[in-house]
Amino acid sequence: MSHGYIVVERYRQPFAGTTHLLGAKNAALVIIASLILAPGKSILRNVPLSEDVHQMLELLVSLGATATIHPHDHTIVVDTSTITSWTGSVEAMRKTRASILILGPLLARFGRAHVGLPGGDAIGKRPIDYHLKNFVKMGATISECSGTISAVAHPLRSARLVLEYPSVGATENALMAATLAQGTTTIINAALEPEVFDLIRVLQTMGASITIEPPATIVIQGVSSLSPVEHTLISDRLEAGALLTAVAMTGGSIYLPDAPAYLLDIFLEKLSEMGHTISVGAQGLGVTLQATSTPCAVSIKTAPYPGFPTDLQATFMAAQTVAQGSCVIEETVFENRLSHAYELAKMGACIKVEYNKVYITGVEQLTGTYVTATDIRASCALVLAGLVAQGTTTVAGLHHWKRGYEALEKKLQLLGAGITLSDQPVSTVSIPSLSATESQIIL
Ligand code: UD1
Repeated sequence: MSHGYIVVERYRQPFAGTTHLLGAKNAALVIIASLILAPGKSILRNVPLSEDVHQMLELLVSLGATATIHPHDHTIVVDTSTITSWTGSVEAMRKTRASILILGPLLARFGRAHVGLPGGDAIGKRPIDYHLKNFVKMGATISECSGTISAVAHPLRSARLVLEYPSVGATENALMAATLAQGTTTIINAALEPEVFDLIRVLQTMGASITIEPPATIVIQGVSSLSPVEHTLISDRLEAGALLTAVAMTGGSIYLPDAPAYLLDIFLEKLSEMGHTISVGAQGLGVTLQATSTPCAVSIKTAPYPGFPTDLQATFMAAQTVAQGSCVIEETVFENRLSHAYELAKMGACIKVEYNKVYITGVEQLTGTYVTATDIRASCALVLAGLVAQGTTTVAGLHHWKRGYEALEKKLQLLGAGITLSDQPVSTVSIPSLSATESQIIL
C-alpha cells in the first residue's frame, strides 16, 4: 500500500533548542474509549491530534457520540450521552489496534457489543485472547464470526482475573468493564504502564472505585454509574524519547520542559551509559540532554514498564548503528517488532538479526537510500537514521508516522532537521541502488 513518504536530509549542524511535548497518544486512545462509560460531555486537554486519535474519535462518532476538536489548544469535547449503538463497524475497527478498547466500555454500559477485529501495527500476531478470556470470566458470552466479535453480558459481574502476561490493552479493557460490574474485580499481573495510570485517574474522576495493591494488582469496586470528566493527559514519554534520541544522534543539546523524567528512568540511564549528559528538573519534570560527540554502543532488553519500553526500541536501535562498539538489542514484548533492523541494514548499518535479538556494530556513517516503515515506531527510527545518513533518505510509510505523532516533523525541523512529508504515491520516488558492500545485513 503506498501512502506517501518522508524525505530526510543529513543534518548540517548539531541540533539545539527547547521543545514542548503533547499528551501521550496511548493514553488519549484508551481515555477516549473510556468516555463511553460516562454518558455526558467530557473535555480532554493536551490531546495529540494524530491520525490514530482522529480514528478513535470517528469510531465514537459512528456509535452516536458527538466530538468537537479544538486544534489550536489540543482540546477535545466529546458528548457520549447520544451513543445508542453498540456496533463498531469492521471498517472503523480495522483502522487501529486500540479500537478493541471500546469492547469493555460498550459491554459495561449496554450489556452487549458487536465489533470488528482490530487492525494496527504489524508488529506481531497481536491476539486479543486475554481481552476475551477476561470478559468470559466476567460472565459475558462471546462469539466470533466472519471477522466480527459479539459479546453479551448477563449482566457483567466481578471476577478474579489473572493475566498470563501484563498486556496493556487487556488490563485497560478489563479495568474499564469492571468499573460498572457488580462486586469487586481484581486484575492480577496487571500492566502498570503510565498510560494505564492516566486511565485510572480519569476513571476515578468519573466516580470509579479503584486501588492498586503490590506487586501488580488492580482492585475495582463496581459502581452503578459514572459521570463525565475534564482531564489533562500526561505528556508523551515516547515523543520525549524520540526527540532525545534524535539529538543524541546529531549532537547538540535539547531541553524538554514537559518531559516526565520520572517515567523514563531506564531509557535515560541507557542514554547516560552511551556518554550523553542528562539533567532532570525538580520533581522529575523536564529533561536536558547534552550529546557526546563520541557515543558508545549500549545493549538493551525491552520489558513491560518500568523496563525499557518496546516503543523506544526502534529509535534506540537507530542510535546504536552509529555508536562506537557493539551491542545487543533484545525485543521481548512483541515477537515481530524488528522490521526496521532490515531497513537500517539497507542504509549501511552492520546488523545481524537472530530471532528476537539484534547484534549491532556501530559504523562511521550510514548512507541515505529508500526504506520502508511498517509501523509507527519504525517510521521514527528510520527518520532519525536519515538525519545522520549521508545524502537523502526516503522513508515510505508516511501513514504510520502520521498515526503516531502530531507534527513531530515540525519539532525536528525547529531543532535543525531537513524533513519533508509527501502525500505523493511512493511510485514517484526514484530509488538509488546500494552496492553489495554498503548493505551489511547478515541473516
Ligand atoms: C500497547 C501500546 C503499544 C505498546 C504495547 C506494549 C496502545 C494503544 N498501544 O499495545 O504502543 O507497544 O502496549 O507496551 O496503548 N498479547 C496476547 N494476547 C492478548 C493481548 C496481548 O498474547 O490478548 C500479547 C501481544 O501479542 C504482545 C504482548 O501481549 O506480545 C503485549 O501486548 P499488549 O501489552 O497487549 O500491547 P497493546 O495493548 O496492543
